Amino acid sequence: MTNQYPIPVVVNGAAGKMGREVIKAVAGASDMTLLGAIDHNPEVLDKDAGEIAGCGTLEVPITNQFEPMLAMAAQERQLGVMVDFTHPSTVYDSVRSAIAYGVRPVVGTTGMSTQQIQELAEFAEKASTGCLIIPNFSIGMVLLQQAAVQASKYFDHVEIIELHHNQKADAPSGTAVQTAKLLAEMGKTFNPPLVKEEEKLAGARGSVAEEGIRIHSVRLPGLIAHQEVIFGAAGQIYTLRHDTSDRACYMPGVLLAIRQVTQLKSLVYGLEKIL
Ligand SMILES: NC(=O)c1ccc[n+]([C@@H]2O[C@H](COP(=O)([O-])OP(=O)(O)OC[C@H]3O[C@@H](n4cnc5c(N)ncnc54)[C@H](O)[C@@H]3O)[C@@H](O)[C@H]2O)c1
Repeated sequence: MTNQYPIPVVVNGAAGKMGREVIKAVAGASDMTLLGAIDHNPEVLDKDAGEIAGCGTLEVPITNQFEPMLAMAAQERQLGVMVDFTHPSTVYDSVRSAIAYGVRPVVGTTGMSTQQIQELAEFAEKASTGCLIIPNFSIGMVLLQQAAVQASKYFDHVEIIELHHNQKADAPSGTAVQTAKLLAEMGKTFNPPLVKEEEKLAGARGSVAEEGIRIHSVRLPGLIAHQEVIFGAAGQIYTLRHDTSDRACYMPGVLLAIRQVTQLKSLVYGLEKIL
């Protein structure tokens, strides 16, 4: 269904690494308009969002006024959408506020607990408001997860390694947790122990996420976002790996999510559900 008016988009976390990419992508999408750009970093206050993003002047100054911006988005003829790439400590409250204003959240920020996501799902359902929470917007990661689910039918042993830049606030990554969850949904327990293990150094074996699946987190400058799912069986190793080399890879997924969320009346989790 083609909308008569462009979708008004507010970007929360506009001056961040992901926020800047979103500003550029929204500015280049003919069916969207950048209504607002929010960031609490005082160094970018009142600066033009387009100039901060490196795509030329957009005449949208960055503000730290979150609720007034939501109120403005709620007044638009076409349903407003809030894209959030901020921080795990504030994302829950921001998404709840957006839903209360009838503004559709598209959430890329990771690190919310299962309970928080469940509460937001109930809140969105009651408000009949669409909300998308997407722990990874890249199509390559969705394909990796689908391949991992297939492989899990034939392998009983699997471990996940996720590698990210060292400014990432949460560990393990939301994507790695989601991958473990998808494998656990296959209804079996992985990695039956063959010996009694003793960790000489706490955390050496990573942490157990779901159904015996261990996740190991690496943080280093020079990395962006990477994930390996390693299956093992007698005489063979099957490795799936996804590497992000540029944050632009997330933007087709973000634009798709902005379009789709205006059609939803409840919370949906995961890019694979809207492809
Ligand atoms: N879903 C995905 O595909 C995907 C991809 C990459 C990153 N992420 C996640 O997105 C989030 C942001 O990542 P980033 O690399 O852009 O981080 P970043 O630190 O570069 O940017 C975050 C921005 O948000 C701002 N901010 C933080 N809290 C705020 C608040 N309460 N109100 C307004 N502004 C606030 C900061 O000032 C900063 O400019 C992280 O949780 C990261 O894990 C998700």
